[in-house]
Amino acid sequence: MRISNEIWNEALATVVYLALIEIHSQHEQRSFVSNENPDNNPARYSTERLMLKHLPKRTIPGTKSAELLKLSKNYEPPCMADQVPVVWDHGDRVWITDVDGNEYIDFTSGVLVTNVGHSHPEHVKAIQRQAERLMNCYSFPTPERVTLSERLVKLLPDNLDEIFLLTTGSEATGAALRIAKRFTGKHEILSFYGGFHGRTYGPMSVSGSLGTRRKFGPALPGGIIAPYAYCYRCFYDKTYPDCDFYCLKTLDRIINSSSSGDLGTIITEPYQGGAGFIFPPEGWLKALEKWGRERNLLLIVDEVQSSFGRTGKLFMIEWQDVRPNMLCLGKGIGSGMPASALAGESKIFASMLPGEMSSTCGGNPLASAASHAVLDIMQKENLPENSRKVGEYILKRFQELQKRRHCLGDIRGKGLVMGLEIVENQQNRQPAPELTQKIIFRCGEYGMLLGKVGLYGNVIRIAPPLVITEEEAEIGISILNKVLTELG
Ligand SMILES: Cc1ncc(COP(=O)(O)O)c(C=O)c1O
Repeated sequence: MRISNEIWNEALATVVYLALIEIHSQHEQRSFVSNENPDNNPARYSTERLMLKHLPKRTIPGTKSAELLKLSKNYEPPCMADQVPVVWDHGDRVWITDVDGNEYIDFTSGVLVTNVGHSHPEHVKAIQRQAERLMNCYSFPTPERVTLSERLVKLLPDNLDEIFLLTTGSEATGAALRIAKRFTGKHEILSFYGGFHGRTYGPMSVSGSLGTRRKFGPALPGGIIAPYAYCYRCFYDKTYPDCDFYCLKTLDRIINSSSSGDLGTIITEPYQGGAGFIFPPEGWLKALEKWGRERNLLLIVDEVQSSFGRTGKLFMIEWQDVRPNMLCLGKGIGSGMPASALAGESKIFASMLPGEMSSTCGGNPLASAASHAVLDIMQKENLPENSRKVGEYILKRFQELQKRRHCLGDIRGKGLVMGLEIVENQQNRQPAPELTQKIIFRCGEYGMLLGKVGLYGNVIRIAPPLVITEEEAEIGISILNKVLTELG
């Protein structure tokens, strides 16, 4: 009798899962007697340690978490977050421990931030060393800042020959939009349905979702928004590749009917994060670049979340050799230390007068030292390559699950960033936001942290730190599989 790979994998995952629980409960008994602390074990990331961390179901929030969540409710506005009720205490690579001592495998990286893993020792040391020397000097240059700018420029396409170091992603996209208007002398900007570029007023004005703009009054004038290549829910009901990028072919008609003849710039994400990890088909971004060049439009690519190894290359534009005129970077550049950057062509930056744009904390020595350490770690541990390798493994395992779990509507991703679109069933594709919420909560109970995105709130965000191993990834996959079996 032939047993399919799928059944073998399922059986293997179940055996691993049961073994993990068994080993964990044995360890609990042992450590109760000997007071053994796995953190003192020099083989910190041995198989046994990985397994020990995979805990059986726990109650969330725990007692201490509940107390702090109450404090948060009393003193913090509810608009801040919508997460599983876990209060984080400390992190180690891909593992988080909450204030009650529960451990979780982190499939969020915060929000695609901690690319080098939580509290990587070299990252920590670099920050500590720098904190003892100098933390802020506003826009006076420091060795850390200028050498970081040089280092980044050398990693980027030739045309991006200057770097403006900033603090947040919104600051980088906001700066890009303003500089683009100055350089082109044109105020209209083309962006895309579902696009997310930050929550401050400029970036919000080019965002393409109600979630970002709801009831904030008129956005900045000059925004033109067009359909993105969201092929699972194509705006034009077409199918790729037969559509031949029909969504790009409609751009001229959209511009002709919405523009006042003052369009100067395009801003886009290479994949859409907030809208639900929507990956356009291979070639879409390159085709958009060509379309824009033919019309003499400036191209801003927002890689605030897709950069620093996340998709398997240092920058996602490398996959298709796209050369934007400006590139926004953030999140992973500091890997936990607030930092962002705007890379651009010097002729574009030259449209700004000296001192006309600065940032209180942008390029501060602490953040710059942290970013240097991030680049060192990326290179030394070859994290883009690991992202590609483990990402392919996870994607394949999810695709296997999809054959049996009918709520898994669409699975898409590149490197270690993926979206699992949760639907009522694969035939009707109806978004299932409540089920999505339940899955995320139940995974939290089993020790796995996940995030939620999507225009319909029905996409599970898969984005572990780039240091994750296949073995660790398998732990997350078995938890998700178990939860989908229970709920899906
Ligand atoms: C593509 C993109 N651009 C900009 C931003 C805004 O970054 P920040 O929250 O650091 O301002 C984000 C944040 O999620 C993002 O994903």
